[in-house]
Amino acid sequence: LDILVLNGPNLNLLGTREPGVYGAKTLADIEADLIARAGDRARLRFLQSNHEGDLVTALQESGRDGVAVIFNAGAYTHTSIALRDAIAGSKAKVIEVHLSNVHAREDFRHHSYLSPVARGVIVGFGPMSYDLALEALIAGA
Ligand code: DQA
Repeated sequence: LDILVLNGPNLNLLGTREPGVYGAKTLADIEADLIARAGDRARLRFLQSNHEGDLVTALQESGRDGVAVIFNAGAYTHTSIALRDAIAGSKAKVIEVHLSNVHAREDFRHHSYLSPVARGVIVGFGPMSYDLALEALIAGA
């Protein structure tokens, strides 16, 4: 089982970015925890980009290569038809995750362009959102 943990804009700033909303863990912390949790149950790879096109390319390549994706698209979640099309058009199985409960926040975070084409959505559990997505993929979701 090959899994890409794909993070979009501003998620490189985790740990210092609005810690009251997103917590104290850095993205490197979250990635290290995922590797430890996966053990030999999955092969993980990681990409973070602030650039929408890089995320499109990563989704296309994941579909081509049979790699499942745990995807936090950050604010592009709420704006990007290109990312939605990339998910819909690739064969990649994509689980959408968010650290914060976007439904408890500003109205503009309540809509996701990605949710209708995602395999599933996990929202609001902090770093555990990634853990739950990992366990779902390992369980065969
Ligand atoms: C986020 C929620 C988004 O609304 C926001 O733009 C982010 C992070 C989350 O993980 O809670 O950058 O995706």
